[in-house]
Amino acid sequence: MNAPSNAAWWTESVTYQIYVRSFADSDGDGVGDLNGIRSRLPYLRELGVDAVWLTPCYPSPQHDHGYDVADYTDIEPAYGTLHDFDRLVAEAHGLGLRVLLDIVPNHCSVEHPWFRAALAAGPGSPERERFHFRPGDGDDPPNNWRSMFGGPAWQRTPDGEWFLHLFTPEQPDWNWNHPDVVEMFEGVLRFWLDRGVDGFRIDAAQGLHKDPELPDVADPFEEERIADATNVHAWNRPEVHEVYRAWRRIADEYAARDGSDRPLIGEITGIGKRHLHEYVQPDQLHQGFFWDLLDSPFDAEAFATTIRRGQEQAARTGAPVTWVLGNHDTVRVATRYGGGAPGAGPGDIEAGTARARAAALLALALPGAVYIYQGEELALPEVVDLPLDRITDPIYWRTEGRRLGRDGCRIPLPWNGTTAPFGFSGTPHTWLPQPLSFARHTVEHAQSDPASTWHLYRQALRLRRDLLADAGPLQLLPAPPGALVFRRGHGFTCALNTGDAPVDAPHPGTPLLSSAPLPDGKLPADTAAWWTD
Ligand code: GLC
Repeated sequence: MNAPSNAAWWTESVTYQIYVRSFADSDGDGVGDLNGIRSRLPYLRELGVDAVWLTPCYPSPQHDHGYDVADYTDIEPAYGTLHDFDRLVAEAHGLGLRVLLDIVPNHCSVEHPWFRAALAAGPGSPERERFHFRPGDGDDPPNNWRSMFGGPAWQRTPDGEWFLHLFTPEQPDWNWNHPDVVEMFEGVLRFWLDRGVDGFRIDAAQGLHKDPELPDVADPFEEERIADATNVHAWNRPEVHEVYRAWRRIADEYAARDGSDRPLIGEITGIGKRHLHEYVQPDQLHQGFFWDLLDSPFDAEAFATTIRRGQEQAARTGAPVTWVLGNHDTVRVATRYGGGAPGAGPGDIEAGTARARAAALLALALPGAVYIYQGEELALPEVVDLPLDRITDPIYWRTEGRRLGRDGCRIPLPWNGTTAPFGFSGTPHTWLPQPLSFARHTVEHAQSDPASTWHLYRQALRLRRDLLADAGPLQLLPAPPGALVFRRGHGFTCALNTGDAPVDAPHPGTPLLSSAPLPDGKLPADTAAWWTD
């Protein structure tokens, strides 16, 4: 099967997010890599996704696992080489899979040559102007901004000046008013597009520009809230839209060459969330993650509200919604829906898994694009009891342990076997340890069980391609309390029951697929199903 030939392939595509460190390790160092991904591309083809998104795989000291970029136009040596990357892209394309890269424009790494040059050149130098360096206020930082990962957003240098970092101190923020920065990133986009990349996920896309005066925030931020995503001087500045207009012109230039769009997908969080429609525009970003589904509890009414908001969003932007249930920054969906959390135990993981399966059928039936986070197709739970001395997420260290961070959703994937490393690597000493319980979640195990979540995803992806590709918008129907029912296209119905008791199956047609058996034609609690007339 070839990649879909339609230009706007991204509007209905299913993209699989690969967390590169944790997908597959080819060289036995316990860390995932590009050749590991290459070896597993047939797996993704068989699952039936359209595209993959690779989390940052650039050279990086890994203080934030690659979201601290030291060189935007090379590959992290632990992950491979540019040659490996080229082979990955070629082989993915050969299997009909598109490849999206993660671009990190808000900040780089303290090891980026321009930042090192800025440190060396000293106060007042032109090198410092590419970042936000300022003198302090006595011994205090230049303003009262706080970082997303805890602590002040400023780090002092040995010469007494401070630099701004909205994430860790190892991630200095770029000064987007500097023409070098603008030009450098446009070159980076072209570099990867020339290598055959099909689009970009844009990290912290509501960042980049800051109020040039860097004024204090009026409502000083409380330490307990930790992540300051509400700072109006640091996020969602109007100037950022000019950046995306320029990027869109580049993406469109490449699309015009072969008639296939190169989508730009924004990670717009914090105060940017309610402005998503301002970013997703025909002359800016193609897509932006629509967080409402991820943020929603497992509740029919909440899902209906989410769907209505999604419809409004699509109407305002002219682009279908980009649905997402999880990612590498969020507690895994099965654990979340079971009421579990890091530090607080697994919750009711059985109920959580049933709900995650049902929610997958909901997401995959909605009009628009869907992003699947690796392991969702294996019903992987969050690892909530990682030994504290194995925690690597800077959030844990920056908050002095008040937040355990995101390692629990980033554990290396289990492929086969009954003990670690479960086929992930040649060594059991993986960068994050895998629990023994992963034996029940291996790909091998899932593929041998027709009732597994893997088979559910695979069937859903096939049916979606066959029945929903051109099905158009959805229509919500009246539903029993606790249930959600909608129709699409010619005779497709999806129903979901989030209540405690079975409800009458709302549709008399033929069941196509269900997340659990439908005894006596009823739709049990924590179940979703698809029907055709
Ligand atoms: C985004 C990424 C997250 C990273 C942060 C800083 O939110 O998804 O993993 O830590 O940006 O780059």
